[in-house]
Amino acid sequence: MLPIQSNGYSVFFDNSLASLKEFLNTSDYSKVFFLTDLNTSEHCLPLIGKYLPELDNYDIIEVDPGEENKNIDYCIGVWQMLLDFGADRNSLLINLGGGVITDMGGFAASTFKRGIDFIQIPTTLLSQVDASVGGKTGIDLGSIKNIIGTFTQPKAVFISTEFLKTLSKRQLVSGFAEIVKHGLIADKDYYYQIQNIDIVDPPAEAIYRSVEIKNHVVTTDPFEKGLRKTLNFGHTIGHAVETYSLKNDSDPLLHGEAIALGMICESFLSHKHNGLGEEDLKEIIRYIRSVFPDYSFKPSSYSDVMEFMKNDKKNISGNIGFALLKEIGQCDYNIYLEETQIIESFNYYNSLLNQ
Ligand SMILES: NC(=O)c1ccc[n+]([C@@H]2O[C@H](COP(=O)([O-])OP(=O)(O)OC[C@H]3O[C@@H](n4cnc5c(N)ncnc54)[C@H](O)[C@@H]3O)[C@@H](O)[C@H]2O)c1
Repeated sequence: MLPIQSNGYSVFFDNSLASLKEFLNTSDYSKVFFLTDLNTSEHCLPLIGKYLPELDNYDIIEVDPGEENKNIDYCIGVWQMLLDFGADRNSLLINLGGGVITDMGGFAASTFKRGIDFIQIPTTLLSQVDASVGGKTGIDLGSIKNIIGTFTQPKAVFISTEFLKTLSKRQLVSGFAEIVKHGLIADKDYYYQIQNIDIVDPPAEAIYRSVEIKNHVVTTDPFEKGLRKTLNFGHTIGHAVETYSLKNDSDPLLHGEAIALGMICESFLSHKHNGLGEEDLKEIIRYIRSVFPDYSFKPSSYSDVMEFMKNDKKNISGNIGFALLKEIGQCDYNIYLEETQIIESFNYYNSLLNQ
């Protein structure tokens, strides 16, 4: 599989850790840092050591895992460690982890000393097919996700399915939601093909196709003026429900689980307001519910979820914008809906659970 060319950088697949070695050998960074979390230190750093045994001149900055730590306090910790370890403008930060690490590390690097180089080594399925490609970096502020951040491209992305072997099934299924989304918004054949793959052992070819789809969108529209908004399918409602769940549930939804729910609600909205056929709607609901867990989404939570949705940074002048399907494999954007219409989709979701 040839590297995919993005906005000024390459995404490496086959034997990508050999490509990482070559990348480091042919560059002359004054210092190299790895940003990890406790889990990727344990499971992923040893793989780097296996492929690059001669790499010994680096420092490790390790943070606690989890979305709740993707915030300014942890970011200050990263900046402080870079300072303490003597990072200069010619330093490289290697983000080794899931989307929390690639987002926060990208943000820390893009702002430290007005920007140092960074590369992404995504280690979850979600970060491989989504978070590590496209140049969005960021952190959460309070309960508002990704509200602080930059558009900054990495110097390279290295994807290896070897990292996925230590991920839990729940995390793999969560990441799979973005693969489903890519099929739904851009490639009908791919949407049907992925139904035959083993989610707990996803083939590199499926990850490659997903990155191709995302990359086509983000290279066409790097700053989300138009086409890139299609990547938000399932996310307007999904993000708000994810935020609600993080605040209220003892075992909160994972990102992809919330996006799965969001894709069902937004498919309903696509049917009502954007011409998605009833057969397509039924097919999407059938498939998503066969893969992802249902969520008990109480009517008493609707107002909180609506509030989170109103805070979404993609809204303009208080209007809630959606990307909605026209058919499986085709998506439109800039469709603005009213609160009552959105709540109808929550009721529809709940009615499915009672059938
Ligand atoms: N920038 C973007 O375009 C973009 C796109 C989608 C999602 N995101 C962001 O990505 C984040 C979610 O990413 P995620 O699902 O990867 O979550 P995550 O980074 O929290 O990783 C999930 C868990 O898996 C652990 N882990 C990571 N790699 C592992 C491995 N190989 N083996 C064992 N455990 C491992 C982590 O420590 C963590 O506990 C969210 O913050 C979301 O906003 C960003």
